[in-house]
Amino acid sequence: MKPIIAPSVLASDFANLQSEVEMLNQSQADWLHIDIMDGRFVPNISFGFPVLQAIQRHAKKPLDVHLMIVEPELYIEQFRAAGAEIISVHLEACNHLHRTIQQIKATGAKAGVALNPHTSVQLLDDVISDVDLVCLMSVNPGFGGQKFIENTYRKIESLKNLIIARNSQALIEIDGGVNQQNAPLLLEKGADALVAGSFVFSSSDPLQTIANLKNL
Ligand code: DX5
Ligand code: ZN
Repeated sequence: MKPIIAPSVLASDFANLQSEVEMLNQSQADWLHIDIMDGRFVPNISFGFPVLQAIQRHAKKPLDVHLMIVEPELYIEQFRAAGAEIISVHLEACNHLHRTIQQIKATGAKAGVALNPHTSVQLLDDVISDVDLVCLMSVNPGFGGQKFIENTYRKIESLKNLIIARNSQALIEIDGGVNQQNAPLLLEKGADALVAGSFVFSSSDPLQTIANLKNL
């Protein structure tokens, strides 16, 4: 099975967002990964609804929206209305994670849960059969272009075991510092989807870089 490739729009040229999205439409990317940061859950602010809607107007691929925000339950319906097909909330940001997962599914979106590097995958034990995707952060969320955390490989193995044990259909997505060097081992350990921001957009030929990741 070829991996799902989700380039992170955070690393694109915001002054030329339409052409960046059109480039992704032409590419072998499967999803567009959209990073929403609120300056509270993470120490950075990215963009909000108007920009997401502008992306959606041009995107021909599913929008994979990663909410790095506190109280995400306040905005789920609005993100769905703005075009999100997958909505991931952080476990660390949810007091009532089970309820928020159901809330996402009730909108018709796929429900994802993201985990910070320090968060054990075992905390998903009681919800893993309800979620469509687990986003394992392989950097501390908040910024593109950071160094990949090696412990991620071990987490993928534990998560894969949990998914199998609970008969879950959840996909494993890896987010942060992904590149051509670490991608093969991530896939070997059981990753299904790879997010790549700076590796794609800072390369001289993003279309080829995406193709290389897709065809590892
Ligand atoms: C980090 C974001 C990532 C980021 C990945 O907080 O969640 O999606 O855009 O960027 P790279 O691939 O540059 O680490
Ligand atoms: Zn992300």
